Amino acid sequence: MQTEQLERKAEMDRVDLASEIVRLKQERNAVILAHNYQIKEIQEVADFVGDSLGLSVKAAETEADVIVFCGVHFMGETAKILNPSKTVVIPDLNAGCSLSDSCPAEKLDDFLTEHVLKNYFVIAYINCSAGVKALADVICTSGNAVRIVQAAPVDRPILFVPDQNLGAWVIEQTGRPMDLWQGSCYVHMEYTRDSIERARREYPDAEIVAHPECPQAVRLLADEVCSTEKMIAYCKNSFATAFVIVTEEGMLHRLRREIPNKVFIPGPTDHCACAECRYMKLNTLEKLYHSLRDLTPEITLDEPLRKLAEGSVRRMLELSK
Ligand code: 13P
Ligand code: SF4
Repeated sequence: MQTEQLERKAEMDRVDLASEIVRLKQERNAVILAHNYQIKEIQEVADFVGDSLGLSVKAAETEADVIVFCGVHFMGETAKILNPSKTVVIPDLNAGCSLSDSCPAEKLDDFLTEHVLKNYFVIAYINCSAGVKALADVICTSGNAVRIVQAAPVDRPILFVPDQNLGAWVIEQTGRPMDLWQGSCYVHMEYTRDSIERARREYPDAEIVAHPECPQAVRLLADEVCSTEKMIAYCKNSFATAFVIVTEEGMLHRLRREIPNKVFIPGPTDHCACAECRYMKLNTLEKLYHSLRDLTPEITLDEPLRKLAEGSVRRMLELSK
């Protein structure tokens, strides 16, 4: 078959898959939640596309019987923590997260035992396992981290896990000292001062908008540092008409769809024109279809662990109102 014919067939398959997904969704009384880093085709069939905070709120509130979470494992887990009576499935069980992996629950537990006299108040970024959430006092996302840290008790030292870059950014914003777990997101660590300076030279009229998971050298070059959801509002309201977006490339689909009159350029890394998260990109329309059809792979949690984790996630939701 010619390339053009093959492309048309692939397009037809996608259309069929998308309409099958919509049909199955009704049959199962399911809701599809998708993170801003998902591929365009998944964002288009989702009921809600958003950041970790928005998705957690939707997962907690939904009355659907099934939640299909198109994101990574810790996001599906958070949905199950908040809404345990629902069946929660994710398209690919291998969709993990380097940041979450950088702070295993056993390691955090050992650290807290070793430093028990410090009486740490533990704030965990939502990019962590249910085990870590169960050990934390409160959870935060990049969208509410400043607020959560400002609400922390003043008479206890804070341990912020697992993202050292987000933690350092929050210290800069709040002036509150914190001890930082040395974890990081491998995607945002791919941006460097050189790669962003190059983008500045190439697009001198564009504003640079970066995620707080980026290292400080990159954040310092940005016109705005914010969560993926806040990027939408920032780019809508800014007088600028072009933006270099320094986060995972999936974010560009949402920005282009919601703000079609402006130009969005992916932030370059040292060796690539954009950064992709290999975990987020494990999800495909086909896997989404299978998870909805077979209701697998399902996220399950031990009830005592889930309950402990729920306390710290609910504290975050309360503080975000
Ligand atoms: P937010 O969408 O909450 O900003 O998080 C970014 C991220 O890296 C999720 O894995
Ligand atoms: Fe984890 Fe980074 Fe991928 Fe987000 S982008 S899921 S933080 S590895």
